[in-house]
Amino acid sequence: MTGLPIADRADVRRATVDLLRGDRRAVVLVLGLNAAAAVAGLAGPWLLGRIVDRVSAGATTATVDWLAVAIGAGVLAQGLLLRYAQYAAHRFGERATARLREQFVWRTLGLPVSVVERAGTGDLATRSSVDVSTVGTTVKQVVPVIMITSAHLSLLFGAVFLLHPLLGLVALLGMPSILAITRWYLRRASPAYLAEGAATAHLTDVLTATAEGARTVEALRLGDERGRTGVDGVRRLWTTRMRTLALRSVYFPVIEASYALPVAAILLAGGVFLSHDLVTLGEVVAATLYLQQAIEPLDRLLQWMEMAQRGLASFARVLGVGRVPTEAAGPGRAPGRAPAGTALTMRGVRFAYTEHHDVLHGIDLEVRPGERLAIVGPSGAGKSTMARLLAGIDAPREGRVSLGDRPITDLDPEERRRQVALITQEHHVFMGSLRDNLAFAAPSASDGDMLSALVAVSADWYADLPEGLDTQLGDGARELSPAEAQQLALARLVLADPHTLILDEATAALDPTTARRTERALAAVLTGRTVIAIAHRLNAAHDADRVAVLTDGRITELGTHDELVRAGGPYAALWRSWHG
Ligand SMILES: Nc1ncnc2c1ncn2[C@@H]1O[C@H](COP(=O)(O)OP(=O)(O)OP(=O)(O)O)[C@@H](O)[C@H]1O
Ligand SMILES: [Mg+2]
Repeated sequence: MTGLPIADRADVRRATVDLLRGDRRAVVLVLGLNAAAAVAGLAGPWLLGRIVDRVSAGATTATVDWLAVAIGAGVLAQGLLLRYAQYAAHRFGERATARLREQFVWRTLGLPVSVVERAGTGDLATRSSVDVSTVGTTVKQVVPVIMITSAHLSLLFGAVFLLHPLLGLVALLGMPSILAITRWYLRRASPAYLAEGAATAHLTDVLTATAEGARTVEALRLGDERGRTGVDGVRRLWTTRMRTLALRSVYFPVIEASYALPVAAILLAGGVFLSHDLVTLGEVVAATLYLQQAIEPLDRLLQWMEMAQRGLASFARVLGVGRVPTEAAGPGRAPGRAPAGTALTMRGVRFAYTEHHDVLHGIDLEVRPGERLAIVGPSGAGKSTMARLLAGIDAPREGRVSLGDRPITDLDPEERRRQVALITQEHHVFMGSLRDNLAFAAPSASDGDMLSALVAVSADWYADLPEGLDTQLGDGARELSPAEAQQLALARLVLADPHTLILDEATAALDPTTARRTERALAAVLTGRTVIAIAHRLNAAHDADRVAVLTDGRITELGTHDELVRAGGPYAALWRSWHG
C-alpha cells in the first residue's frame, strides 16, 4: 500500500493564509472587536493606578468615586465587546470549516479510482472523517483563541511599555524562558503523543484479535503466545505513556514558575525605580495588574498551541489529498483532440494492485469495431481488472491500452465516457428528479430523447410515475427497485450513446426474472455497438462473435465459439461440462 501524499509545510502555510484571506472581513472584525475589548480591559488597572497616585497626593473622595465608576464602565464595555468578538469568531470558524469540507469533497471526487484503491480506503476514510473534523475544530476554536489571546497579550505588554519603558523591559524578562521551554516541549510532544496513540491502537488490535479468535486460540493452544503479545502491547503503551508524562512533568512546573517571574521582577524592579523617583507608585501598581492579567491569556495561548499543532498535522493530511495527480493526467496528454478510430487494443498490458504482484501478465487483444467479444474465465482471473483497463479507469503498469490511435487514459474523462462505457452491477440513483438523473448522461437531451431512451430499455414503470420526468427519485421520494435502477442506468447509456460498451456481470445481482427482463432491455441498447461482455453463463459466450478465455491474468484461448469447441482446449471442456 502506498499511502496518499501529505502536504509539506509551505503548502499548509499557504492554505492557512488562503483560509484567513478568504474571509478577510470576518478576520478583521474578530481582531478589531478583540482589540477593542482588550483596550477596555486596560482601563481598569490604569484607573486603579491613578487612584493610588491621587490618594497619595491627598485627593478628595469625589474624584476617587468617579474613577471607580469609570473602572466599572470599562469592565462592562469589555464584557460586551468580548461577547460579540466570540460570536464573530465562531461564525468565521463555521464558514471556514464549511469551505474546507467542500474543497475536500471536490478533491476526493477528483481522485483516480486506482489511487484510492492502492492507498487503501482506510486512509481516505480517516482523512475525510477524523482529520477534516480535527481541522474544523482547530479553525473554529483554536484559531479564534490564538487570535484573541495574541491580540490581548500584545496590548497588555504594550500598555506596560506605555506606563514606562523601563517597566516594559522588566515585564519581558520572563518571556525568553517561556518561549524556550514551550519550543522544547512542542518539538517532543507531538511525536510522543503520536506514539502513544499508535500504541493504544496497537493494543486494541491485539486484544480484539485475541478475543475474536478465541476458539482458534484455544484449539491451537496459542494462549501463551497471545498472552505474550498482549503483555508486549501493554508494555509498549506503558513506555509511551511514561514518555508523555515525563514531558508534562518538566513542562508544566517550569511554565507555572515562569508566569510568576515577570510579576516578581516588576515588583522588585518597581521598588528600585520608585525609590529613585523614576516611576510613580500608581504606575507600578498598574503594571503589576497588567502582568497579572496576562497570565490567563498566556496560559490559554500555550495550551492551544499544542492543539494547533495537531490541527496543522491533520491539515497537511487533508491537503495531501489534493496533491494526487488528477485522473488520467498521463504524459503527452493533449486535451481536446479526439482519437482517430474507435478500435480498442491492448498491447503487452501488465497491471498490479500491489507492488510486485501482477494481476495481468502481458495481455494482447484487438477488439474489432462492431464485434461482440465475450470474456470468460475463473473467478480471480482478472476479468474485472481487464474491463476497467479497457474502459480507461485504471492505467496499465506496463504496455498500452489504446482507443484508436491514442492511449485511452490520455483522453479527457468526459470524452472517454462518451465513447466507452463500463456497466457493472453498481448503478446509482441520485436524489433529484428523473430528468436530472437522465440529464447528466447527456445534458442537451430533450424530453423526447429521454422518453424514447426509457422506452428503448422497456422501463414501463415510467407510465406509473405521477409527475413523469419531474418525479423526485431517491430516499423518501419514489424509490426505484434494483431492476428499475438498472434500467435507469441503461437509459442513461442510450442517451450518452457510446460506441463501445463493456459489461461486467451487469445483471448478475438481479433475480432470474428481472435479469431476463433487463437482458432484453440491454439487447436493445447493444445493437449497433461494440460489446465486450464478461460472462458467467456460457450461453452469452455462445452468442458472441469471439470468446477470450482469461486464466491467471493471461489470455489462454481466443476465437469463435465453434473454433474453441473444435480445438478441444479448456473452453471446450468448460462448455461440455456446462452443457451437460
Ligand atoms: N482493489 C484490489 N486490490 C487488490 N487486489 C485486487 C483488487 N481487485 C482485484 N484484486 C485481485 O486481482 C485479481 C483479479 O481480480 P478481478 O476482480 O479482476 O478478477 P475477476 O476475474 O473479475 O473475478 P470474478 O469472476 O470473481 O469477478 C484477484 O486476485 C483479486 O484478488
Ligand atoms: Mg469480476
